[in-house]
Amino acid sequence: MQHIRLAAVSDFTTTRIKSFRVFGRKLAIVKEESGSFYATEISCKHQNIDLTTGRIEGDMATCPAHRWKYNIRTGRCLNHPMAMLRRHGLKIESGEIFVTPLPLPDAEEEDVDDMDGWEVEFKDPGR
Ligand code: FES
Repeated sequence: MQHIRLAAVSDFTTTRIKSFRVFGRKLAIVKEESGSFYATEISCKHQNIDLTTGRIEGDMATCPAHRWKYNIRTGRCLNHPMAMLRRHGLKIESGEIFVTPLPLPDAEEEDVDDMDGWEVEFKDPGR
């Protein structure tokens, strides 16, 4: 499975979450208290709002639009159990963070062999 570089471990010295737009999808890299990282979808399943624009306390994110709550670590939506945020693959090599551009486990369903020219945006919510 292909990964793309999105950040460096050193980018997370003053923040624990950063969101990105990759292939038109919003995802976030999250640093846990233990120092490990994971990547997750970060768009609200209701109307696609970036959850990093709302309130995040610990693992709980509240969508600013209509207050759906998510455990971003597990992906579970407390309001609608079927509205799960999916994980992305993540690996760290030499202090660089690489993420699968599509969520797991259905990343195989889409062809991601040719990623040249795909747009990657970065947004730091300052957390
Ligand atoms: S857009 Fe998130 S709860 Fe409606």
